[in-house]
Parts: sequence; C-alpha cells; structure tokens
Amino acid sequence: MAIRWGIAATGGIAAAVAGDFVHVPGAELVAVGSRSAQRAEAFAAAHGIPRAHGSYADLVADPEVDALYVATPHPQHHAIALAALREGKALLVEKAFTATLAGAEEVVAEARSRQLFVMEAMWTRFVPAIVRLRELVAEGAIGEVFSVQADLGLMRDFDPSHRLFAAELGGGALLDLGVYVVSFAQMLLGRPAVEHVVGALEPNGVDASATLLLGWDAGRSATLTCSLHSPLPGGARVFGSEGWIDVPPRFHHPGGLVLHRGEDEEGEALDLPLVGRGYAHELIEVTEGVQAGRTESAVMPLDDTLAVMGILERAGTALGITRAEDPAVLAPAA
Ligand SMILES: NC(=O)c1ccc[n+]([C@@H]2O[C@H](COP(=O)([O-])OP(=O)(O)OC[C@H]3O[C@@H](n4cnc5c(N)ncnc54)[C@H](OP(=O)(O)O)[C@@H]3O)[C@@H](O)[C@H]2O)c1
Repeated sequence: MAIRWGIAATGGIAAAVAGDFVHVPGAELVAVGSRSAQRAEAFAAAHGIPRAHGSYADLVADPEVDALYVATPHPQHHAIALAALREGKALLVEKAFTATLAGAEEVVAEARSRQLFVMEAMWTRFVPAIVRLRELVAEGAIGEVFSVQADLGLMRDFDPSHRLFAAELGGGALLDLGVYVVSFAQMLLGRPAVEHVVGALEPNGVDASATLLLGWDAGRSATLTCSLHSPLPGGARVFGSEGWIDVPPRFHHPGGLVLHRGEDEEGEALDLPLVGRGYAHELIEVTEGVQAGRTESAVMPLDDTLAVMGILERAGTALGITRAEDPAVLAPAA
C-alpha cells in the first residue's frame, strides 16, 4: 500500500525534504499546505505535487493524505499536529518537536489515544553512520559508554525578525541546535539524573548559546554546546571503557565514522554515505511504520522526544526563557 504524504509549510527544510521523496519506496508526495494559496501553488509546481492547499486547516482535512510532514517553525508544530491527528493522519514532526514540553505531551497523548504513528524528524538517528554507531556500541566495540561530547553552531548576526532569533517563532540556540546534541546524548545514555546549563541571551531574551552538562550514575556524563554566534564545527565523540568513536562534522548528518579501539589514535575510518540529502532515511522509517501498522518508531520513540523536550525546557527555564505554542497557525494569513 502506497502512503500518500502531505507537507505542511513551504520553507527551507520543506523544500529540502520534498526532494528526498524520490528515494522512498512506497511513498507518494500528493499535497502541500501553506498560509498562502500562492506559495502552496508555487511549491507544488516546483516539486511536482498534485494538490496545493491555501491553509493548514485545508491540508489536514484532505482525505487523500495519510501522513503529514510538519515543517513550520517549532511553535507552529503543535496546533497542526493536533488537528492532523484528529483527522486520522500519521505525522513526521520537525525538530524541535514543539516549543514547549506541555505541547509535546499533548501531541503524544493524542497520538497514543488514537493509535496513530507519530515521530519527531530527528533525521540523525536514521542516517547510516549513526545506525552503525549504535551497532558498534551494542557490540561492545568501545566497551561501556561513559561520556559523550557534541557541539553544533552557526555564525549568524542577531536578527530579531529571523526564525532563528524571533521569540514567536521559537528562536534560540537550544531548540534549533541544542535539540541535536541533547538527542544524541539521550540516544546513547538515556534520561539524565543531573542537568546543569550555562548560556547567554540575545537582546530580545532568546538564547544565543548554551552549554549543558548532563550526568548519569557511575559518573557517566555528556558535555554539549550549541551557539548561534560561533562556527562550532558539529563534531561528536562517544568515549567508552575500551575505545572511542569520532563522528566527524557535522555529526547530525555524517557520512562516516572513525572507530578507535583501545588507545589506537589513528582509528579505522568507516565510509557510510547518506541516501539523497539524508532525509530519505527518516521518511522510510515513517512510511514503513505506517504500512506495518506501527504507532511509534523504535529508533526515535516518543518517550525519547519527551525526555529531550524536558531537558531543553528546563535548560531554557534556567536561563530565564518562557516559550509558547501558536494556535493561530491554522488560520489563513491575512
Ligand atoms: N532537519 C533539518 O535538517 C532541519 C533544517 C532546518 C530546519 N529544520 C526545522 O524545520 C522547521 C522549519 O525550519 P525552516 O528553516 O524550514 O524555516 P523557514 O525556512 O522559515 O520556513 C518555515 C515555513 O513555515 C511556514 N510557517 C507557518 N507559520 C509560520 C509563521 N508564523 N511564521 C513563519 N513561517 C511560518 C512558512 O510557510 P508558509 O508561509 O507557506 O505557511 C514558512 O515557509 C523548524 O522547526 C526547524 O527546526 C530542520
């Protein structure tokens, strides 16, 4: 059975992901929605999509869409996701899953009560290099994991009108970049027992940068940094009792790994290329999951999304940040 997909939004990531559908067996991209009929039609024409909807309400009500990819800014995920679930759609929701932990909990509760497949679009977990990294760790290639380091940064000038900085669009380093480093550590070590954060704020109060120290029992730890004002290369390292794995920049979509067994400084380079731009892997996970009648991904389960959202929210709160979801996104733009 082919899964008929719709895309909610016409921005940068919507266009990038749309191009990877050709690599997904059993998926048909059939609809796009936007706050503007004109933008929906232009996006549909550019990507060969048959139906264009001039509001997100019309898109979620389209009876010929089985699964929706939500690619609006973070505070605009929650209302679209809830409305789509109420129309019986499966969902792939961009990272950060929502703007708030309460919003994420509401979406997860709705999905579970309706037994519909929902997954956060944490594409990193599905790319071949990270799949292999998890296998190597499970095989004991580096012994017991006791520490994770990861960084991810951008060198941008402050612009309060841009999605990365605008409070009403979920701006800030934590939700855009911190979500990757936290999700990476959570994937390997689970929910931390200890959470510390230091960070800096922009003039409008959103977070410019943050460094988290997360702790688990037996001294296991993660040190994670994200910034909108530093070209942090996006490296990650997983240290074990018998070796370590380097994930070369940018670790959120790597094309390989370097495995160091014991004290071997040179290591073994593993070439593990991406399919398409790297988004095909997560699209395959959802398409196959819906076809198989599953309600969650075992690789990116909803409990992991909630754990990550909790860490990000508590870090934001500690830095003095309050966030909100945007219910107005379902109305057509003026
Ligand atoms: N996985 C990745 O590699 C990756 C990369 C970049 C971004 N992302 C995630 O994808 C999401 C979107 O990021 P993006 O870079 O694509 O953003 P973007 O280029 O600014 O596009 C966002 C789109 O969302 C729609 N939208 C709905 N309500 C909006 C509002 N109130 N204000 C502005 N736009 C609104 C707009 O489409 P219409 O005007 O047509 O409604 C807009 O084109 C974010 O959650 C981000 O974290 C993921």
